[in-house]
Amino acid sequence: MLNIGLIGCGHISETYFRSRDYFNNINITVCADISIKAAKKCAEEYNIKSKQVDELLNDSDIDIILNLTNPTSHYETIKKTLLSGKHSYCEKPLSINYEQGKELIELAKSKNLYLGNAPDTFLGGGGQLTKKIIDSGEVGDIKLGNFTFAFPGVQSWHPNPEPWFVEGGGPILDMGPYYYTMLVNLLGPAKNIRAYATTVSKYRNIGDGPKKGKDFKVEIPTSYYIIIEFHNNALIQGFLSFDVINHESNFMDFFGTKGSIIGPDPNMFGGPIKVSLTEGGEWEEHSTENMILGKTNIFNQSGRSNEAPTNANYRGVGLAEMIYSIENKQIHRCNEKLVLHVLDMLDTTVKSAEQNKNLKLRTTCEKTKLFLDNEIEKIIKK
Ligand SMILES: NC(=O)c1ccc[n+]([C@@H]2O[C@H](COP(=O)([O-])OP(=O)(O)OC[C@H]3O[C@@H](n4cnc5c(N)ncnc54)[C@H](O)[C@@H]3O)[C@@H](O)[C@H]2O)c1
Repeated sequence: MLNIGLIGCGHISETYFRSRDYFNNINITVCADISIKAAKKCAEEYNIKSKQVDELLNDSDIDIILNLTNPTSHYETIKKTLLSGKHSYCEKPLSINYEQGKELIELAKSKNLYLGNAPDTFLGGGGQLTKKIIDSGEVGDIKLGNFTFAFPGVQSWHPNPEPWFVEGGGPILDMGPYYYTMLVNLLGPAKNIRAYATTVSKYRNIGDGPKKGKDFKVEIPTSYYIIIEFHNNALIQGFLSFDVINHESNFMDFFGTKGSIIGPDPNMFGGPIKVSLTEGGEWEEHSTENMILGKTNIFNQSGRSNEAPTNANYRGVGLAEMIYSIENKQIHRCNEKLVLHVLDMLDTTVKSAEQNKNLKLRTTCEKTKLFLDNEIEKIIKK
């Protein structure tokens, strides 16, 4: 079994430790964090060793670094991982700009190491079922669509909300990876992007924790309207926002030449997916509950932003699939080309709004392949 060293013992680490219950090859043996206290606490809780970050990077027993640090630390941590001769799997986004990501991909290639990155949610039941329905031709060719992620921001409940509102934060880098990866999964690579951005409030107020009541400055745009043109000529409109109190929009709608399909929450693994083939007609619901990676497995309200109750959450599948791919010398699904194309889309969205013009993407990638049950069965725990 390949050994995994985890760097970044924060909130999301719990989800990756839980993924050991679902997948047969996730073997986290050592953890590290710039906060020694956080690393020690994590090691104690999960009965593994803790080390200093550099000590872990130099540990010859470790094959893969699972990087769960904050987005602004991804670049330096992935670079150090690759330079120490280890494979890297990192939480989203790959890095906070395109140039850094490109450098990391080239470094991984030159060292013959695997570089994988979240999100892996597109591998879930919702993403795969939507893909299957679209690819079957039932709703015709998808030429139009919408996507929405909108909420008021984290300042009301998060004790340290500032990073979401400065460089490295914002709705594009935070939630864009889920939506863009899902769009590429369903429609293939994108061609160009036009975006408009705004900062609705110049200051926000902290609603909880030791800094409760304190105002802090918002340094970046907090809402984006986006139009993406894909290579298959689909035009998709998006809204990603930290400025919305409430809404009833769907996560994703796709309008085909024969019907419409309401897609999944790209931040999650389940369904249902809805299809309608007539104007004003009924919506046929397709459940994901019989799918290996679509069944509800979260029943309790944990208060975590990525785990509302009654959800399917199989985060870690991208890591498990990468490990299987390393062992079997095959291309992994959350691979460099997909990840760099998604980073290019994120970076181009921000730049399009800044420069007030339509921008061409610099990269492309292959259309993703369906994740079949017989492939999932190789990594899932029986
Ligand atoms: N919290 C969520 O619900 C969630 C969901 C999906 C993805 N993510 C992603 O997971 C990553 C981590 O998020 P989180 O919520 O766990 O953050 P967090 O702030 O709770 O934890 C991050 C940890 O990384 C450590 N760290 C930061 N820089 C480091 C460095 N250079 N070297 C070593 N340790 C370092 C911090 O000390 C902290 O303990 C982010 O990329 C985020 O986008 C989070």
